[in-house]
Amino acid sequence: NKLWWLVPAAGVGSRMQADRPKQYLPLMGKTILEQTLQRLSQACPEAGRVICLNPDDPYWPEVEHYGFQPVVGGQERCDSVLNGLKAIADQAQPDDWILVHDVARPCVRSSDIHNLIQQLKSDAVGGILALPVADTMKRATPIKNGLAEIDHTVDRQQLWHALTPQMFRYHKLRDSLERALAAQATITDEASALEWAGFTPKLVAGQRDNIKVTQPDDLYFAALFLSHQHS
Ligand code: C5P
Repeated sequence: NKLWWLVPAAGVGSRMQADRPKQYLPLMGKTILEQTLQRLSQACPEAGRVICLNPDDPYWPEVEHYGFQPVVGGQERCDSVLNGLKAIADQAQPDDWILVHDVARPCVRSSDIHNLIQQLKSDAVGGILALPVADTMKRATPIKNGLAEIDHTVDRQQLWHALTPQMFRYHKLRDSLERALAAQATITDEASALEWAGFTPKLVAGQRDNIKVTQPDDLYFAALFLSHQHS
């Protein structure tokens, strides 16, 4: 089955407190967006490519240089992903693999991408890169800003951070997203739409350097990780 990259990049990234959406901030001589697209293109040169952009961005980049077809994004991340899926409806087969990857994760390793594909390529549904939780985790009741009361300790053996890429069959992803959105379910990643629809997505362990650039400090970590990676 054919692979497709689908990159949601239509967010405004307000938590970065920058003068432009975070994907257009500089990172090691390129924009974050260019670092990410270059990585994805090199990891899977044969994959189809679509990217969701914000129509208001004054920085519409040269995404076609990396072979990406630009599509207008939506209100929320899941709306953007759905727009991307609709844009390739004529070209994609129902069982093709869609790999959704945040534009804000420029440090994903090609070895992680290849491992994800290898682990899931015979699966009927798909799954996501994820990271086992390292810290002890507490469930707590908020008291006020920055202060809370512990209810209990959660078993961290069962907890994972959800990363991207998130890899699903075209028709299952599209159908799940459309139905979950119509039902106004809370959908924060693709896997949550599949879970809502009754599927059981898999987790594939990834590396901790696959961070999502969210806060200003994250740019330092991303630069450090990129300069130390060899895969
Ligand atoms: O805001 P956050 O970093 O969680 O966004 C995750 C990803 O979803 C980013 O790559 C962002 O550009 C994208 N996004 C989008 N359309 C939206 C909101 C976010 O493509 N409406």
